[in-house]
Amino acid sequence: MSSQKIGIVGSGLIGRAWAMLFAAAGYRVQLYDILESQLATALQELDKDLHRLEEQGALRGNIRASEQFALIGVTTRLEELTREAVHIQECVPEVLQLKKRLYSQLDELLEEQTVVASSTSTFMPSLYSEGLQKKQQMLVAHPLNPPYFIPLVEIVPAPWTSPTAVERTRDLMLSLGQRPVTLKREIQGFATNRIQYAILNEVWRLVSSGILSVADVDRVLSQGLGLRYALLGSLETAHLNAPGGVADYFQRFGGEISAVSATYGETPNTQEDRETLAEIARQCEQLVSLEKLDERRAVRDEFLIQLAKLKKQFE
Ligand code: NAI
Repeated sequence: MSSQKIGIVGSGLIGRAWAMLFAAAGYRVQLYDILESQLATALQELDKDLHRLEEQGALRGNIRASEQFALIGVTTRLEELTREAVHIQECVPEVLQLKKRLYSQLDELLEEQTVVASSTSTFMPSLYSEGLQKKQQMLVAHPLNPPYFIPLVEIVPAPWTSPTAVERTRDLMLSLGQRPVTLKREIQGFATNRIQYAILNEVWRLVSSGILSVADVDRVLSQGLGLRYALLGSLETAHLNAPGGVADYFQRFGGEISAVSATYGETPNTQEDRETLAEIARQCEQLVSLEKLDERRAVRDEFLIQLAKLKKQFE
């Protein structure tokens, strides 16, 4: 159990999720937001969510919901947030100018021991930290939604991020029970979105060429590949799929992989190809109407809790 202080900037969806993860591990958490009303809402939601998770038997950590909630405080003063913080997790909206402005404010206030990690899903850390005095204390720690149930965190350093900051963030994430991966250097899309977009591109092509319906293309993942990948990554899956392991797998299937890959064609333009987009939207809305999205998300999260428990046993 730790009594170190963690600062969180932005008390929206992701800021609140981080607050719960840190409090579960016994850290003192302070949430900062520009909107006082947002902080008041965040506290109400956190109180409700922690107690609901406790009732469901899904609360993380070894202390009760009320004790976890008591570890969470709020402030609307950035200079109070930065005081004595070992780590600050930034969770403001995905707008580069907004992030830049915030990081230059933080640059003035950061104490020596503090690492600032951005939750950004798209901005490489060099984009907002370049030119700042304390840029070696800044990096990305990108979670996946919902972070409470999905343990992956991508740690992405800028070229100038200190190795100590990277290591400390990794250790911190492990202390929460999250499962970090550390990129050796920054790259657009990090790792998750690079892989996710490769899948989305091919799914798009299969639907737009009329080969599969939306429901069927999604079944390929949800009833097929996804079941394996929920347990193992693609390389270990390949390793198990040939008698002589992964080397044997690529010897046997490498030719086929190259031949199929050569037929993928252009990267789809998912913004401009309105016709395919309208068709995908139409079919998706037949599966889940827009009014039912919240309900469907809630069901997914409920089953993610079960899956997370099962995965712990697997590991
Ligand atoms: P959100 O819109 O739910 O929350 C943003 C919060 O930041 C709001 O409470 C807002 O009042 C506050 N805020 C705005 N400007 C501020 C400032 N200058 N200083 C302090 N607080 C400020 O956004 P969400 O979804 O929580 O996203 C936050 C970050 O997390 C983004 O960078 C996003 O890319 C990343 N992320 C989001 C995921 C998602 O599924 N929503 C998943 C992974 C990462």
